[in-house]
Amino acid sequence: MVDENLTYFPCTLQLQSNKKGRRRLVELVGATKITVFKSSTMPRKVNYGIDYDDDYDVYEDDDYHNGDEYEYKNEERVIAPKQEVIKAGVWRCPICTYDNEDSMSECDICGVLRNPLVKFSGNSNRTAANFKRLSSLDMPSSEREKNILIESELGAEGPNSSSASLGRDGRSVVKGRETASDSGSKPEILNSSMSSVSLSSKSRTENANEDKDKSNLQYKPESWMMPDQAEGRLSQLNLAIVGHVDSGKSTLSGRLLHLLGRISQKEMHKYEKEAKQQGKGSFAYAWALDESAEERERGITMTVAVAFFNSKKYHVVLLDSPGHRDFVPNMISGATQADAAILVVDASVGSFEAGLDAIGGQTREHAQLIRSFGVDQIIVVVNKMDVVEYSQERFDMIKQKLGTFLRSCGFKDSSVLWIPVSAMENQNLVATPSDTRLFTWFHGPCLLDAIDSLQLPARDYSKPLLMPICDIIKSQSQGQVSACGKLETGAIRTGSKVLVMPSRVVATVRSMERDSQVCSIARAGDNVTVNLQGIEGNRVTAGGVLCHPDFLVHVANQLELKILVLDVTVPILIGSQLELHVHHAKEAARVVKILSLLDPKTGKVTKKSPRCILAKQNAVVEVVLQGSVCVEEYAKSRALGRVSLRSSGRTVAVGLVSQIMKTQD
Ligand code: GTP
Ligand code: MG
Repeated sequence: MVDENLTYFPCTLQLQSNKKGRRRLVELVGATKITVFKSSTMPRKVNYGIDYDDDYDVYEDDDYHNGDEYEYKNEERVIAPKQEVIKAGVWRCPICTYDNEDSMSECDICGVLRNPLVKFSGNSNRTAANFKRLSSLDMPSSEREKNILIESELGAEGPNSSSASLGRDGRSVVKGRETASDSGSKPEILNSSMSSVSLSSKSRTENANEDKDKSNLQYKPESWMMPDQAEGRLSQLNLAIVGHVDSGKSTLSGRLLHLLGRISQKEMHKYEKEAKQQGKGSFAYAWALDESAEERERGITMTVAVAFFNSKKYHVVLLDSPGHRDFVPNMISGATQADAAILVVDASVGSFEAGLDAIGGQTREHAQLIRSFGVDQIIVVVNKMDVVEYSQERFDMIKQKLGTFLRSCGFKDSSVLWIPVSAMENQNLVATPSDTRLFTWFHGPCLLDAIDSLQLPARDYSKPLLMPICDIIKSQSQGQVSACGKLETGAIRTGSKVLVMPSRVVATVRSMERDSQVCSIARAGDNVTVNLQGIEGNRVTAGGVLCHPDFLVHVANQLELKILVLDVTVPILIGSQLELHVHHAKEAARVVKILSLLDPKTGKVTKKSPRCILAKQNAVVEVVLQGSVCVEEYAKSRALGRVSLRSSGRTVAVGLVSQIMKTQD
């Protein structure tokens, strides 16, 4: 059936990278169908109008007032993913309507998993992180970059087909990791109401935990792994830029990079000229981050752009996230790396309100997500102040309304900074504002100074290496594979042996790059590209993890989760089909048990085996995954133990892994 709102063009698609190593679609010739959105249906720049509900903190639907008493009448109303449209050789993403090849297990544009109910033949572990590294803003292209091709397929072999086992029992050596359990200073869970949720988990599963006692392996870090002050380099701050679509995240990022010398005047002129030629003059700064033709044409960010600059105190790695709701999976992949975040809100009348809308507001969803990733420090940038005449009244109103919501997410007032800016008119970005309408009433720091006032989270240098892989780069000419990501714990250097999970293949670190500059050592907190040797390209997958050869990460497909359900309208039931996100991995998940409801304040069980979980309730559930993911219990690794659950393009719950129930043997 042909949708009249869509135009179909015959073509074949190729996924290629440009020389900067960024995934993009090229070559529209041939026979395969793709969908091109007509402007009326293009899912972009949605302005939802004023529909802001003051009382969004209070769930008012009478039907859902009490999960204990609630009698769920219609068992059919499980949270089911929207159905995909299947045509010859392709399936249409129900979220962004892109037509993907049948072999793809997730949408190549928005990253949403293929309908989990469909058993697909493709590699179920393929997770496109959809990152782009803006190496043009770094150093001149190296020879290597010229040959880089990010392949559309990451190989046919998934984790389940792995046979190259080390002969080591992953579960037994994980015991060693337990001795170095997390002791970071961050609060433990998204919502203040979840902060008291008990993390103690008595082992109930033989499969996952029994063998741990077999090992007495203790991890001892080597001296080079500890940071050396004498190196004199700035500490790295990974800063996610998040917020509702069109709030000005990319424009703000582009402006900052330009003001701080990361984008030359010549480059800026080029962006301005090209943007003007395409009738998108106002997007000139955003074009520095939105590199692809699709992004520029649609005027939205679709993948996370990575760029960096140095402030007085930090080497800041900017992760400019997409704001459109179709691309939340990509946003999640970027924001899981964040140490802190800038939440950009659009001050214009109607736009700020749209961002806080309970249904499609990404200010709301992004704030909940970043808090669930453990980010507790944010700068709220109230952008486009020029549109509201730099009104203090408007700023104060936004601060009051959004402040209430952020508090309900678990952000402390003392960890939230509020900065009014205009990215377009360069007000209050790297210097005090020059516009009298702003400087007469705002006497706080400019954005750059606010960034310098952020505190670095404690880094776990003394634990075994853990680096979730967000992206893979394959060089066809050199047969080389590189894994990109942030080191969550531990350190590596050139020549180190690393275990690539879930393939369980040991590889050697041939070389490393940090911001396109060769580096010899990377430590916890660093965002690097690790060039590997001694491993076939298809054994390294986005969503996998590089770890210490003696301290394996779990690979599991059945998990017990402690979750906080967000503002859902449909309860979560046994059988609910969801999409589980953990670091850069995502997998279809089915709720198989609802073990208990928890008191949000004490974390104590209030009801055992309830029939459903309603909005704002805390619960313990058990989920079975369609494929396996690299994961840890939250008590052992925060970065690998935080999850978010999505359904039909919306985040429905956030939480943590309280127990690994079944690992991959
Ligand atoms: P997504 O990545 O798609 O979510 O959008 P974004 O948040 O990155 O917004 P982007 O930077 O693409 O800007 C969207 C529009 O807002 C563009 O037309 C910008 O010119 C405009 N814009 C950004 N900042 C300002 C500002 O400070 N003032 C005004 N008036 N317009 C702005
Ligand atoms: Mg953008």
